[in-house]
Amino acid sequence: MQKQHMDFPNTRDDAIQLDDEDLLRSARPRFLIPENVVYLVGHSLGPASLNAIQATENCLREEWTNGLVGSWNTASWFDMAKTVGDVLARFIGVNPSEVMVTDTVSINLFKLAMAALPMAKKKVLYIDTDEFPTDQYMADSVAILKDIPCHRINALEQSKALSSGGIYIKSAVCFRTSRRVDMARYEEKARKSGAIIIWDLSHATGVIELELAAIGAQLASGCTYKYLNAGPGAPAFVYISEQLHGKITTPLPGWMGHARPFAFEGSYSAAQGVSGFASGTPPILSLSALKGALECFKGIKIKELEAKAGRLGDMCVHFAHKQGLSVTSPVNRKLRGGHVSIEIENAYPVSRTLHARGFHTDFRTPSTIRFGCSPLFIRYVDIWDCMHTLGEIILKKQWDKPEYFKLSRVT
Ligand SMILES: Cc1ncc(COP(=O)(O)O)c(C=O)c1O
Repeated sequence: MQKQHMDFPNTRDDAIQLDDEDLLRSARPRFLIPENVVYLVGHSLGPASLNAIQATENCLREEWTNGLVGSWNTASWFDMAKTVGDVLARFIGVNPSEVMVTDTVSINLFKLAMAALPMAKKKVLYIDTDEFPTDQYMADSVAILKDIPCHRINALEQSKALSSGGIYIKSAVCFRTSRRVDMARYEEKARKSGAIIIWDLSHATGVIELELAAIGAQLASGCTYKYLNAGPGAPAFVYISEQLHGKITTPLPGWMGHARPFAFEGSYSAAQGVSGFASGTPPILSLSALKGALECFKGIKIKELEAKAGRLGDMCVHFAHKQGLSVTSPVNRKLRGGHVSIEIENAYPVSRTLHARGFHTDFRTPSTIRFGCSPLFIRYVDIWDCMHTLGEIILKKQWDKPEYFKLSRVT
């Protein structure tokens, strides 16, 4: 008898059935997740994949060991920041010529804000009070260097930034709550006033559909170590719309962004387009890992990733509500990114107890546990098991042991 299609599992067997029917199920074996671990932290550091490890090993053992310095030419290391950027373009809905991999999100936001300021109608910066801290620090630093105001705004004041004609640094998905921004509407409003939005796509890339070109977004950066699974400290990407090529220049000109780096000229002349935003030597080992990690997405449409992350997230929300817990992420999956944030009393020891039982989550002070629904490797049954274990830990106060209160440096 043909099984009926189901969107939501009512039993553990239902969850297993959903995994059997999952269009993305062939991706999971590419990831090296330790046995007995349910890894719900892909929104923070994605897991290792065979592809990433093979690509890095090839770089270490073949390109570096045998090719030595010649690999800058023979293994195309010199172009790698750009060619890997080309692959990333589809993840954010732009042309390959508009993306390159370089530096960190922190540094890229600084570069983009400094570069965009001369174009802004009003020399003023805006940033949300609950924006990711590094974005806030960088905005403050630009403001100090340029002697202009940097206004903090809350959730109800965002139209101030959009109608200001200034620069607004904004995450597409909030790191705390997973709330998504209506990027198209923001861009439309910003255009009317001449404001420029610099998007932080760190929590969005690889898990929700992004159409930056279609909505007229001009500038963005995002990281590759979360949903793109490129490994610890993997470099970020930067997006600069073609319309701005030749019109903006980096405040951190380095030899790798020069039009002719090996002419060793004494003054800076930017390489064309986004490549002019490179500064120093690209991290080839990390770029190799990223190149390999991106192979795991071959043949997969971003909208399939978003749909599965949405269904997994719905399960988290449903079971959290059933246990009387408060969910700070939007209930509607269309308004949510890839993780679900739940407020839990004694969240830290609860997250450590989950960890001891094999469920890796992360804790955000003061009382949030984030459950990352990375759609390439998380199964419906994983969410089922995690949420039922969470219920048991809370009900039986299993978290109330001294070892679960010991605070780690990274939570
Ligand atoms: C939203 C957001 N922006 C920026 C960063 C920091 O990026 P980077 O370490 O590449 O500077 C993070 C890191 O988790 C983040 O979540």
